[in-house]
Amino acid sequence: MDLDDLYPALSDLAAAAKRRVPRFVWEYLDSATGDESSMHANTAALNAVRLTPRVLSPFTADLTTTFLRQSWDAPFGIAPVGMSGLVWPGAEVALATAATKAGLPYSLSTVAAATPEEVGPSTGGRGWFQLYPPRDPEIRRDMLARAKASGFDTLILTADVGTPSRRERQRRARLTNPMRLRPHIVAQAALRPAWSLATLRSGIPGLKTLEPYAGPDAPGGTTGHIGYRLRVAPDLDYLKALRAEWDGALIVKGILDPDDAGTVAPLCDAVWVSNHGGRQFEGAPAAATVLPAIRNAVPDLPLIADGGVRSGTDILRLIALGADLVMLGRAFHHGYAALGRAGIDHAIHILREGMIADMGQLAIGTPPEARQRL
Ligand code: FNR
Repeated sequence: MDLDDLYPALSDLAAAAKRRVPRFVWEYLDSATGDESSMHANTAALNAVRLTPRVLSPFTADLTTTFLRQSWDAPFGIAPVGMSGLVWPGAEVALATAATKAGLPYSLSTVAAATPEEVGPSTGGRGWFQLYPPRDPEIRRDMLARAKASGFDTLILTADVGTPSRRERQRRARLTNPMRLRPHIVAQAALRPAWSLATLRSGIPGLKTLEPYAGPDAPGGTTGHIGYRLRVAPDLDYLKALRAEWDGALIVKGILDPDDAGTVAPLCDAVWVSNHGGRQFEGAPAAATVLPAIRNAVPDLPLIADGGVRSGTDILRLIALGADLVMLGRAFHHGYAALGRAGIDHAIHILREGMIADMGQLAIGTPPEARQRL
């Protein structure tokens, strides 16, 4: 049977993923912070955007997009997700390979279960590397040099994790990062044999990106070490230092305020409007809500947006509101956890087909023309 009949929407892949991964994995991937209202706001804000169809005007849909001087086959890509390899083993390389084959950008998180050296070759030399700011400038320089040498030409500074969020749902699930094999984790894994077998075959996922920087000086074992190494809240001087060190494109992720966008604009090549999938602050607005004001504040700056995108329609909605490129985090992981590599390809297919069908309704030839249909 055709995958389109079995899994017509991304929500079908999400449901299949939920059935296949252990409970603690689902709680990690699916959860937000607090009462999760900012995650729900993402969906609500997208649903509230209405685009008016046109009739009797022929068109040919062209999804090709130029962003930061590079051509992509569609205006969407894969957002950085920490510990992708915990969701399903091998996720980082599989996601990078699928994105590259489809002509889409892939972002590797600082806190990944695979190293830049392992993932870089699958990005076709144009991967995006996401930086959680290390305290130590030497570690930062080393990380950036490794990313660059591995084929990552674009750097994302994630700016919205200056203070840790409580992530209550993950606490309730007693999830530790890196994963520790406590009895409830083992029991939940045993109930999902496909995940367990795949994990046994590839090894228990750890924070591989950071392993080279483990040192005797950090308190609290590996977890404490990671907190110790990374948890610095980046400020403008940090951004300036990065700008001076990184000669590729630089994106600042996690902007929601138009004034912040204006402040960072001279120091970066693009701003990524995001509330981190609702994982940092339950009171935060959705990207969809703040995008028009940010577009106004920085009319010429390339803008990325994410949060709650689950269809081609959602991609067009964010573009209509001012985004140039739209990213998805959870959805591609649902695809991989549900069906392996074929699930990522299918998620991409659903999004592309959805965009093309909608562009027919809107009678537009390119996604940015959706702005005229608001
Ligand atoms: C994230 N996100 C994230 N962002 C980042 O800059 N570095 C990271 O390591 C992570 N890790 C991470 C883990 C998990 C499990 C999730 C769900 C999200 C945020 C991510 O890049 C993106 O902003 C959101 O995922 C977008 O929302 P959707 O598409 O998941 O609804």
